[in-house]
Amino acid sequence: MNKITAAITGVQGYVPEHVLSNEDLAKIVDTSDEWITTRTGIKERRIMKNGASSDMAAEAVKALLAKTNTDPLDIDLVVLATVTPDYPFPSTANVLCDKTGMTNAWGFDLIAACSGFIYALSTGAQFIETGRYKKVVVVGVDKMTSILDYQDRTTCVIFGDGAGAVLLEPNHDGLGIQDFILRSDGSGREYLVQPAGGSVNPPTHETVENRMHFVKQEGKQVFKFAVTNMAEVSAEIMDKNNLSSEDVDWLVPHQANLRIIDATADRMGLPKEKVMINIQKYGNTTAGTLPLCLWDYEKQLKKGDNLILSAFGGGFTWGAVYLKWAYNS
Ligand code: UT7
Repeated sequence: MNKITAAITGVQGYVPEHVLSNEDLAKIVDTSDEWITTRTGIKERRIMKNGASSDMAAEAVKALLAKTNTDPLDIDLVVLATVTPDYPFPSTANVLCDKTGMTNAWGFDLIAACSGFIYALSTGAQFIETGRYKKVVVVGVDKMTSILDYQDRTTCVIFGDGAGAVLLEPNHDGLGIQDFILRSDGSGREYLVQPAGGSVNPPTHETVENRMHFVKQEGKQVFKFAVTNMAEVSAEIMDKNNLSSEDVDWLVPHQANLRIIDATADRMGLPKEKVMINIQKYGNTTAGTLPLCLWDYEKQLKKGDNLILSAFGGGFTWGAVYLKWAYNS
């Protein structure tokens, strides 16, 4: 019997309807469309007015199961990446299973900030490759607006809300996930962090007054590490798998900053046409960016295409996944 690989057999995204443009933000904080566009590449982002991360995830998963003709009762496992769970506990995966009827599945949340989706995808794949499970749902979702400070122009312009989900199933033709490289370095934690609400700084009047429940980022520091590490790990996974730039059909990069994406593509020797970009319309949706890219570009993907997924995020966390796309739309 051929080796079992874990293949993505469907992808679906969900973004809330409400659009917040750069012009809208310029009415709230001291910023401009020109600054945001040239520094990040973002023009607008989606904002969830009502509801939680699990509601966005549920929309994505319900549509994913419908389009892949999958009975929710057949799902074995849900791995959900987020930094904006519905609650500290129970897990958002747990809530999602209830909201979508995946009641035979077990699931858990995974925190790896902007690298959440590649951590979750690599984790979910193990359960398929071992032969243990037949259907695993991997979700990346964040309601970043629930932890954004609309008095802090250095963070509130960058992030948006969104969700994406993929179905993983066994493949016997060598398609699907081929390799991954994942890294973490917790010494970078102070540069991108939600300081309060956990066991270091449990919620108090002071933590609220000091706005410590919002995202804090030292953008320049994060930028420096992101550019270097995302580019390096993407080149490393190519070397490790003997892939030339001609062999790579698509780079699927985390959407934090167009300049970081460009640096990664340059390091890999890839032209712009091979790079998935949707940062201009969604901003940085943290764990949501990669599945939202796959969803937006799904129709252009062909069976056998070589994709490199690459991300960098808070922690620091970073990594890359090499996969062969398994179907034509
Ligand atoms: O996804 C997880 C990982 N995160 C990332 O990868 C993000 C990495 N960092 C970045 O993408 C960039 O550092 C930012 C987009 C966050 C910031 O861009 P930058 O080119 O690094 O700007 P900066 O932080 O060096 O700030 C330059 C100037 C500052 O003013 P002064 O000190 O030069 O007078 C900021 O106060 O721009 C100012 N500034 C703004 N001006 C207008 C910062 N935010 C804004 C803003 N509008 N929204």
